Amino acid sequence: MTTVNDVTDLSLDAADGGVAVITLDSPPVNALSANVRTGLFEAFGQAIESDAIAIVLICAGRTFIAGADITEFGGASAEAASLTDVQNLMESSPKPVVAAIHGTALGGGLEVALCAHYRIAVPSAKCGLPEVHLGLLPGAGGTQRLPRIVGAQKALEFMTAGTHVAAADCLEMGLIDELATEDNLRADAVGLAQRLVAEGRPLKKISDNDDMVAPDRGNTELFANFRASKAARKFRGFLAPEAIIKCVEAAVELPFAEGIKREGQLFGEVLVSAESAAQRYVFFSERQVWKIPDVPRDTATLPVDSVGVIGAGTMGGGIAMNFVNAGIPVTIVETSQEALDRGLAVVRGNYERSSRNGRFPIEEVDVRMARITPALSLDGLADVDMVIEAVFENMDLKKEIFATLDATCKPGAVLASNTSALNIDEIATATTRPESVIGMHFFSPANVMRCLEVVRGRETSLEVINTAMKTAKKIGKLGSLVGVCPGFVGNRMLFQRSAQAQALLDEGAMPWEVDQALYDFGFAMGPFQMSDLAGLDIGWSAETSTGSTIRERLCELDRRGQKNGAGYYDYDENRTPTPSPITEGLVKEFAEKAGKPARTFTSDEIIERLVLPMVNEGARILAEKKAMRSSDIDMIWITGYNWPAYRGGPMYYADTMGLDVVLARLRALQAEYGDVWAPAPLIEQLAADGQTFASIPATPLAT
Ligand code: 3HC
Ligand code: NAI
Repeated sequence: MTTVNDVTDLSLDAADGGVAVITLDSPPVNALSANVRTGLFEAFGQAIESDAIAIVLICAGRTFIAGADITEFGGASAEAASLTDVQNLMESSPKPVVAAIHGTALGGGLEVALCAHYRIAVPSAKCGLPEVHLGLLPGAGGTQRLPRIVGAQKALEFMTAGTHVAAADCLEMGLIDELATEDNLRADAVGLAQRLVAEGRPLKKISDNDDMVAPDRGNTELFANFRASKAARKFRGFLAPEAIIKCVEAAVELPFAEGIKREGQLFGEVLVSAESAAQRYVFFSERQVWKIPDVPRDTATLPVDSVGVIGAGTMGGGIAMNFVNAGIPVTIVETSQEALDRGLAVVRGNYERSSRNGRFPIEEVDVRMARITPALSLDGLADVDMVIEAVFENMDLKKEIFATLDATCKPGAVLASNTSALNIDEIATATTRPESVIGMHFFSPANVMRCLEVVRGRETSLEVINTAMKTAKKIGKLGSLVGVCPGFVGNRMLFQRSAQAQALLDEGAMPWEVDQALYDFGFAMGPFQMSDLAGLDIGWSAETSTGSTIRERLCELDRRGQKNGAGYYDYDENRTPTPSPITEGLVKEFAEKAGKPARTFTSDEIIERLVLPMVNEGARILAEKKAMRSSDIDMIWITGYNWPAYRGGPMYYADTMGLDVVLARLRALQAEYGDVWAPAPLIEQLAADGQTFASIPATPLAT
């Protein structure tokens, strides 16, 4: 074994029958750092010069190369071999090159593998070009080579979805040539290399293969259809998908070398885009949430092999599904058989829909339902490892339930509440074990939304925090640890946005102007469309209605939202909304009464009025240490409220505006509208220091 550099070895072992084996070992994920590229370049050069008959590229550790080193983007270019140098050397090697894949071959990693003449992977391996999630396109030949293997249509789907595709499917698509035995990759790869030589098999260069792209030359319809497809609706606001489509057009229409040039030019454009910078920030922020400054990595975790859910309503059913999907049995408790039946019928209906959509075979519905044990008494929770309470939002009821749980559940069981805004510390006082009590605030629909606010109580133990966070990860949620305060992080900021949305209406802005501004900003819908969807009459009653708000007046007119065809908007039988003249009349009436002159509101003004109060509240949350870092707040907004990922989250958005600018705007709004706009002291301080929210180091939560 020869050491090429500190991350690359080259072996020419007699036991390998003349096959040179290059091993990369650059933890954690063998990303293509300058060191790795140099190591590969040197190693391939030496192997080609040597007596070796063929060359295998394999990686040590948990994975094959997982892509370019994202931390190097935007930095000064290091003095190292370029990826293109490495790839050209591999592809033009006069000896067969085999890439041996385990873990994930992603992005630049797969693009390196595509420059080998053959690829072999273990069955558990996955391949993908996930650059789109970083606001990028595969910029190391991937957009030109992939269509030459799988054709334009599949390449478009593969690269714009950016999913990790299982080895068996890659084999079917021709992306890999053989499957290895799971624990025998090195030997199987060497065996393949020997066979290639013995059988005189050709050195397959993907770049030379025109067969898969030629049939679509001139087929503009293919691209037009893809741009208009259902899948393409998800691209709204993102830059990279369109750049990828243009690259595939180039792959079909241009010779390989010219296509590569086009890819390079478009890669350069997306790389410097604000969208990609935000999406790369999101990538690292997603990984930060799990790091809790005062919960050491070696903190014990309690087992969670069984779960109890209390309440089978909107939230309880969805919460139960998360655990069932992860194979964890759930006991679900309700107050009546009827409520249980209703709740379980919704769960079954959701599973049946998933099955109809091809997610799993219909038999799986019964398998999953069998993991749920219905119960009518909390006694059924005596032996479960974790309980999540999801009954009505009422403190007295929650305390009563927690007192019963205290008397019923085994010692060490995690006792969690899904409350959206109530005080976890107060709930914990109903028990003799406040250290076991924690908030686990799921978002609706709980089986779909990735966001989970894990709410740390004053006395919650480190083990229980660690267990809740690990459980979040296990069920596929992004768990963000937050502190106890009304509404926690997400809803606390939402309250501020909602108040301003209402204030805008009171000044004469139309609901559809407000909704349109937020839609154009990148949200799926605005607050008034959301109100119509949820029902305007939630929390409203005719007896207590005072007609003092636009919403109350709409309810009094029996405009209850989508469900009865009229709310802020009018709806036709397909639930298509149109602006309602009745609402318009009410808005004008309220504005006149308040002495506000009629005027138009620009989108920029609306966005400022809605986003800056969120930022201001986010700053207060940080200062109070109810969130550990600003990026956690951003992740809650991206995964819980559909804040567009290409804008990086509200705190990131403020950082990119510049906090001095944010401060100046808040002061101007304060002068115009009063102290509700008073800038948070943290913003004043950071602006004075020329700092950003992101510059504040992660801080333990205040308890
Ligand atoms: N560059 C730099 N660091 C990376 C990285 C990359 N490509 N991929 C992962 N890391 C880091 C993570 O930030 C994390 O660091 P931390 O421990 O300090 O937080 C560490 O590696 C481990 O990552 P995960 O926690 O995500 O580990 P998992 O085992 O859960 O997942 C993975 C592994 C599936 C490889 C996942 O890390 C991943 O999806 N990585 C990104 C893959 C990717 O997007 N590749 C394309 C890059 S762009 C590109 O290649 C451009 C090219 O076309 C020119
Ligand atoms: P829901 O009204 O749909 O369901 C509550 C269920 O609890 C009902 O089926 C009721 O029969 C049951 N229940 C009441 N008392 C019970 C008891 N003593 N034992 C067993 N079951 C009992 O309410 P929803 O929307 O599911 O909310 C539940 C909790 O989740 C609330 O605390 C709410 O604030 C919170 N939440 C709600 C969200 C939402 O969007 N609906 C989002 C996040 C949290």
